[in-house]
Amino acid sequence: MKPGVFISFEGIDGAGKSSHIDRLAQALRDAGRELVRTREPGGTPLAEKLRELLLHESMDALTEVLLAFAARRDHLRLVIAPALARGAVVLCDRFTDATFAYQGAGRGFDLGVLSQMERLAQTHIAENPDLMLEPDLTLWFDLPPAVAAARLSAARAPDRFEAQPLAFFGRVAQGYADRAAAAPARFVRIDAAQPREQVGAQVLAAVAARGWIAEAAGG
Ligand code: TMP
Repeated sequence: MKPGVFISFEGIDGAGKSSHIDRLAQALRDAGRELVRTREPGGTPLAEKLRELLLHESMDALTEVLLAFAARRDHLRLVIAPALARGAVVLCDRFTDATFAYQGAGRGFDLGVLSQMERLAQTHIAENPDLMLEPDLTLWFDLPPAVAAARLSAARAPDRFEAQPLAFFGRVAQGYADRAAAAPARFVRIDAAQPREQVGAQVLAAVAARGWIAEAAGG
């Protein structure tokens, strides 16, 4: 059986991940892979309830962190780990890098404590209990916060994070840049300011470079 593949998608609100996740999902299905498209916070009945609380109830940064990791552990145990064990490709809209970017860089929560919680929440799940489950590849949609904010303002009513001031998103963007610099083998930066077609091509190229789909015809 083909080994499972875990791909996460990250970026500040308004960076435009969703349509590109759909497009990549289709390319992977066309390549004959079992596909699981999911999101964080969320992906299980419990985690979706925690998502509602996180996005809409007032709370401090530690409570946000605890809810995000509780949701993540449930999601890993019930959905992601079983899918990887079956050999599926998991496409996850946000994962732990979002906690480092939003709660860590954005809210100022201690990054060392986040690393400890990452290990606690993401081990003792796979057959090897010491294995920390994390994405094989993270596609980071990088877009200047002012551009992302302009895209968002036309959209739906903002949740607690989308309603944050521009300075917050500046810190979150820097948080992502720091995570990418610390794990260059896992991260691929997608220039989300490019026209949509070019962004899509960059996403497909990053996955093709790992051998998970064939090179797109015509580049
Ligand atoms: P979404 O609307 O793109 O699905 O993202 C949900 C929001 O939750 C988004 O503003 C980022 C935020 N978030 C955190 O603050 N911490 C986390 O750990 C995750 C996964 C998301």
